[in-house]
Amino acid sequence: MTDTSPDQTDDPAASRPRERGRTVHGEPANAGHRVLAPDDAEVEAYLEQALHAPPPTREDAAPEGPDTVVILDFGSQFAQLIARRVREMNVYSELLPHDTPWSEIQRRNPKAVILTGSPSSVYDADAPKADPALWSGRIPVLGICYGLQLMAHELGGEVLPSPKREYGPTAVQVSGDDGLFIGLEREQPVWMSHGDTIVRPPEGFRPTAQTDATPYAGLADPARNLYGIQFHPEVAHTPRGKDILRNFVVEIAGARPTWTPASLVDTTVAEVRERVGEGHVICALSGGVDSAVAATLVHRAIGEQLTCIYVDHGLMRKRESELLRATFEQHLGMRLVMVDARDRFLRRLAGVEDPEEKRRIIGDEFIRVFEEEAAKLGQIDFLVQGTLYPDVIESTTAETKAAAKIKTHHNVGGLPADLRFSLIEPLRYLFKDEVRRVGVELGLPEAMVLRQPFPGPGLAIRIIGEVTAERLDTLREADWIVIDEIKAAGLYRSLWQSFAILTPVRSVGVMGDGRTYANVVAVRAVTSDDGMTADWARLPYEVLAKISSRIVNEVPGVNRVVYDISSKPPATIEWE
Ligand code: XMP
Repeated sequence: MTDTSPDQTDDPAASRPRERGRTVHGEPANAGHRVLAPDDAEVEAYLEQALHAPPPTREDAAPEGPDTVVILDFGSQFAQLIARRVREMNVYSELLPHDTPWSEIQRRNPKAVILTGSPSSVYDADAPKADPALWSGRIPVLGICYGLQLMAHELGGEVLPSPKREYGPTAVQVSGDDGLFIGLEREQPVWMSHGDTIVRPPEGFRPTAQTDATPYAGLADPARNLYGIQFHPEVAHTPRGKDILRNFVVEIAGARPTWTPASLVDTTVAEVRERVGEGHVICALSGGVDSAVAATLVHRAIGEQLTCIYVDHGLMRKRESELLRATFEQHLGMRLVMVDARDRFLRRLAGVEDPEEKRRIIGDEFIRVFEEEAAKLGQIDFLVQGTLYPDVIESTTAETKAAAKIKTHHNVGGLPADLRFSLIEPLRYLFKDEVRRVGVELGLPEAMVLRQPFPGPGLAIRIIGEVTAERLDTLREADWIVIDEIKAAGLYRSLWQSFAILTPVRSVGVMGDGRTYANVVAVRAVTSDDGMTADWARLPYEVLAKISSRIVNEVPGVNRVVYDISSKPPATIEWE
């Protein structure tokens, strides 16, 4: 075992190897219809369903042009992080399965290949391997952790379980002059996470870095273009890790850093224009970042041929619809159909308390509304989806996408079955942070681009119990104050989410001289990297005090505010 999480604790569940799409407890990460990419995935799935779009056929082409680094994934939880680090230096990177044949790798014409870590050991019978042509020296290869051990093992070196596991921050002594460590101090703090160790390097390799426990913390055979490091340069705990990666990608491999948001906008716009021709395109706006950026990109390419649909289900945050109209219709001049479906949703939600039943009803009603609106638009040829690169990578495990779930339990009629749409996925090469950068490049307002995730079913799953117009108003006001104060304190962007929940509890209070018996509002603020695990945010007392006093004073019907101090797991981020 060579790769463990830096947030490991004594919790036995936490020491279990993490699988993609699963929580640390081994449960499906989207249990209970919860999705990994919360901003838009759900709304898009509704639309896909309503319009009978075929499942996307994922041809695995890379974008035209930019120098590419291929990252072979051996199952490390840091694999995507490596890909992002490379892209942060404006070099396009692609994550491929570890057993991708050499011909496939070569077809992408990469400037370099990086091998990730892995929870496996190289001497295991079923250890993940790579195509041996990789060691030919034709393309520079950097092995990280397991990647290095595999390189050593495959080329005749020896890897054994280490008597002393090395885990966490470690000081490494750099002795190599092979280019990987150029510009770095000879002693470096790095993050180690391995139980196996190289005891004998393969012939031709020389040691380039050491720690007290690991004589071969770095190895290189520059004549064969092979490099390796035992530590993790991709994590924040290795402060100069980015420089090491840059030395490899840009200096040693010679990749040109031309993958910028601006170049990306240009290429995508040209591609979309060519593909769509004279066709008609539809896009669902959810209020999330992904659909906003996808729609704006497509609009830049084809203008009036794009129609965006926004369903106001009445479960949105305060001023959401105004922001959408101002941004897309007034500022960007898009054709926008805003459907006021508030009454329809409220009618169907009347008397419903069960969270899953609420989700089901909202999904179902969404689809109906979309079908009606789409039918009014006449001929539609393409559907825009804000699919991101992580969805593309994980599309083989389709349960991570809301679409899969929703499709299984909705069977709606509607548009003729032979009406087919092609999907346009202008963000399919991008990670979330890149989508935000593209959004900024396109001139979208910060309020739209840098917002926290918001669930598809909206405030309905933050009202515990029945959803009514009055309770929605109460929650909207309380939620607005939470966000307002979090922003005023400069904390908005450091939090994954911050919001209010309307509980069904009422409690006694006193206001002026009178007794009150009113609602309890809960405040939730969490930090997280991906929404799969989360910790409650240690908000300053002053911020909590301000939020509390403003809610009680400004929101009618609320006399008590509590702060949720549960982490995920075992609690979820949303209360329902
Ligand atoms: P939980 O509550 O499962 O949330 O810890 C993880 C992330 O997913 C979002 N979330 C949802 N998004 N539909 C969505 O589109 C849903 O039903 C849903 N439930 C949770 C949640 O806001 C968080 O970011």
